[in-house]
Formats: sequence, C-alpha cells, structure tokens
Amino acid sequence: MAELLTIKEASKWASEYLNKKITTSNISYLIQYGRIKKIGNNGNIFVKKEDLKKYYNSHLSTRETKWKQKLGEDLNWALSFSEYKEFETTKHVHRLHPYKGKFIPQLVEYFLDDHTDQFKKEVFFTKGDIVLDPFCGSGTTLVQANELGMHAIGIDVSAFNALISNAKITKYNLNDVYLTAKEISSKLKEFLIDRNNLEFERELLNELKKFNDVNFPSPEFKYKVRNGEIDEKEYGKQKEKEFLHVFNKLVDKYNIKLKQKKENSFLDKWYLPVIRDEIEFVFELIKKIENPRTKKILSIVLSRTIRSCRATTHSDLATLLEPVTTTYYCKKHGKICKPLFSILNWWERYTKDTIKRLSEFDKLRTDTFQICLVGDSRTVDILSELENKKPALAGLLKKQKIKGIFSSPPYVGLIDYHEQHAYAYDLFGFERRDELEIGPLYKGQGKEARESYIDGISQVLINSKKYLADDFDIFLVANDKYNLYPSIADKSGLKIINMYKRPVLNRTEKNKTAYSEIIFHLKEK
Ligand SMILES: C[S@@+](CC[C@H](N)C(=O)[O-])C[C@H]1O[C@@H](n2cnc3c(N)ncnc32)[C@H](O)[C@@H]1O
Repeated sequence: MAELLTIKEASKWASEYLNKKITTSNISYLIQYGRIKKIGNNGNIFVKKEDLKKYYNSHLSTRETKWKQKLGEDLNWALSFSEYKEFETTKHVHRLHPYKGKFIPQLVEYFLDDHTDQFKKEVFFTKGDIVLDPFCGSGTTLVQANELGMHAIGIDVSAFNALISNAKITKYNLNDVYLTAKEISSKLKEFLIDRNNLEFERELLNELKKFNDVNFPSPEFKYKVRNGEIDEKEYGKQKEKEFLHVFNKLVDKYNIKLKQKKENSFLDKWYLPVIRDEIEFVFELIKKIENPRTKKILSIVLSRTIRSCRATTHSDLATLLEPVTTTYYCKKHGKICKPLFSILNWWERYTKDTIKRLSEFDKLRTDTFQICLVGDSRTVDILSELENKKPALAGLLKKQKIKGIFSSPPYVGLIDYHEQHAYAYDLFGFERRDELEIGPLYKGQGKEARESYIDGISQVLINSKKYLADDFDIFLVANDKYNLYPSIADKSGLKIINMYKRPVLNRTEKNKTAYSEIIFHLKEK
C-alpha cells in the first residue's frame, strides 16, 4: 500500500531527501497548485510519499545538470543565486515598484562587494568609490552601492525610471508619509460613501465565491487539469459564459459603467470609469502635499496602485492585450476572476508595504550620495548635471573620478522602456523620449537595429570614459544572443577581459525557458 504522509511528515521527509529545508508551506504550495495530489480533506490531509519522490526527482535535484545540458558546461552556477528566496531577491526598496528588466541585487553585490572566490579573484570596488550605471533603470545599482558604502551615479533616458530610482534612495520622514497616506485613505473612503462600487464588488465577490466553489474546487480542479482530465480551455470558456449572466445582472442593478466615453489616452482606455474617478481623486490630493519627499513616494505608491488596477486579466498584467472589463476565466488562478472596481485595497496595501520596505532600508543605509539623472547616456554631461542637482557629488567626482561601471544595458529589440509605464507617463505628464532609447522593441532586431545598437552602446561607453579613473573596471550584463559585444568593445577602445556566464532562474514573466546572460568585464585596451 502507498505510504501516506501528513504535511509535516512530508516536509521532514523532503528535507532529508533533498538535504535542504523544505517547509510545510512548500508542501502546501505543491498541493494547492496541483503539483501533487491531496489525499483526504480539511484537517486530515495526506500526500503519497511516492508522488513527492516522483515530483522532486523530475524537478529539483537535477536542475543544475539540466541547465548545463541546455546552456553549456561553462555556466557559472554560483551566479544563479538559487539559494535565495524571492523575498531576498526583492528585498526592501527593490520592490517599491514593478519594472520589467531589472537585475537582482545579489548580482550587483557580488561584483561590488569585497569578497573573492574561485571565479571572482579580485576586489574591484571599495567603500567610498563612485560607481556609474549609465542604464540605471529602476536603480538596483544605486541601492546596492548605498548598502555597501559607495557613491553612485545613475542615468536613464526615461523620466519615470529616474523617479523610481530616486524614490528608492531618498531618505523620508516616515511618520509624515504614514500620516499623509492615512489622510488620503480616509478622504478616499469618504469619497466612496456616496458611490456604490464597493457594494457592487462585495455582492459580486459573494456570487463569484459560490460559483467558483462549485465549478472550480481547489485544489482538485488544477490537479485534474494537469492530468488532462479536464480540457481547461473549453471548460473555462463555458463557465466564463455562464457566469457572465450573473455579472451582467449585477452591473445593471448597480448601474456600473464599464467603459469610459473617450479612448484617447492610456488612462481612458485601460481603466474602468469608477477606477479612473478614484485615480483622479487621489492624484489631486497628492498634488497638494507640501513635503516634496512625501509627495514623491506617495506618487510612486499611486503609480504602483494604478498599474495593478488596469482593466486586464491577472495573467496579462505584464503584457497587455485588450482591456478586460467583465469577469473572465483566469488561467493563473484556475477560476473565474474579476477586474477591479476600486483602487482602495491596493492603495492601502501598497502604502503599508512601502513604509515597511523604506524602514527596512533605513536600517541598512549608509551616509553616501546617489542620484539618477534623466538623460541620454550617449551625450549627457554628467559633471554639469551633477553640479546642478547634487553639488556635493560633483565635488567628489572632480576629486576622485568614477571607479567603474556596473550596468545592464537594454538589449536589442527586447523591451520598450517608456511604454511599459505608459499609465504613469499619462498620469504624471512626464515627457516621453522613446526615440532616444537604445535598442527598443519597436525597432526590432534586424540588421539595421543591431548596427545602431552597437553604435549606441559604444557612444555611451565613450562618453562615460571621460569620467572614469585610470584602471577602471566596466561590468555589463547582457544576454548577447547576436554576439554584438566584441564589436562594441572594439568601437569603444575597450577589451573584454573576462566573461561570467550565469543562469537566470528567477524569471517572473510567463516564459520560463532556460536562459543565461553574460557579465562582460571590460577594461581599457
Ligand atoms: C535593462 S534596463 C536596466 C535595468 C536596471 N539594471 C535595473 O535593475 O533596474 C535598461 C535601461 O536603459 C535605459 N536606456 C535606454 N536607452 C538609454 C539611453 N540612450 N540613455 C540612458 N538610458 C537609456 C532604459 O530606459 C532602461 O531603463
């Protein structure tokens, strides 16, 4: 007979089997997501030892070998950071705002800090150095430089990315942030009293729960889908249609509008009218905040909130398809889900989360300078920009120059960096400079795009070199599928002296295929 284990026993058994800690919540997760079958019911849950063994044998123990088979034996597994949990790779301010294409803080630390190992045989940066990131993005380098007692200068062509970066490294009066956010929340609640969207949502949630409990019992439904006992697509479509009748009735009852009158801007197209009204309401309150730092961080909270409240499905948050304004079958959750009808929950949740993250970072922060400048790194005059915006750092730069670069440039034809935050550009009215982005998605990966990419990145390196100290070190992280970096090095008067090939495991997007990137170490030719 099959050996049955309780969740606790399963966690103990799996920890011994794999020689690493497997918690009871890891086991519950496997059950919840239909990876292994649940035996018994509430209060008395068991799993089969055989099922666990089968799962772990095919998934975990051979991960490194499998990846090496696909990507080559020269893969540096130490740089996978596979021992880190998600909460560590998104620690403190790194998760203040979503941003597609950021690197993990541990990777930056690895190259900036003072450890050496079998791969990194030298220390490249020390406390008090200045680090440059000419493709600053969401500011990962700035934050890690701060933690390590280093100064850092970031540059990004996108004004919103610079706002995210600067918001992360700014020091706040957290009490003021807390009180101001609380006041906004209570005004928003007052605003909602006369409206019926919360009530509508409550009733809708009730109906949804009844419907989902019957038609998508958890975790049995997901398990059946995995085992091919249910055709998810067909079944989902049919149930989606069934529930739409209930949804439409409620929409009529509460007289909820599902579309705005105009479709001229991102905010017009991607938000339900009820949500749009709340966004405008909160934004007006934020505009009136007097303390500029509090205003900055609460703008980031609002932006994060409205990103989560776009009228789209849970699985398409990263890549928008078409606005979804009704209930729908959600592949991610394996049940019928609904769009949002109020921003209140997210606003409150993100406010709390932001304050928690900022105070965590406060405990680690060092007394050093960081700033992200808005500019085109091919041409920006770093010194005069700094003299304007951060004179103390300009003074340091003149004295000691920049020790080196740590950066992940955009790659050719992968991401449109302005477009990914279209909602924020629309709301804050920042000027978009899409045409200055190097290698944007909209220009493709053709020959011309690749040549202009080589030129662009080389110009950035040549422009940056003016500010670098003698014997500088440059580290660039890229998945160089077209082998463009040898030409880039050549054009910039640099030589590639080492390449670290790392597996990228922590992929958040839907595409989870094996993927590696190279950290190029460059020096003066
Ligand atoms: C791969 S991302 C960097 C992500 C960053 N390492 C992080 O962890 O958030 C590349 C960044 O380069 C910026 N960029 C593109 N062209 C640029 C240019 N000409 N000058 C400055 N920044 C540019 C993009 O806006 C984008 O934020």
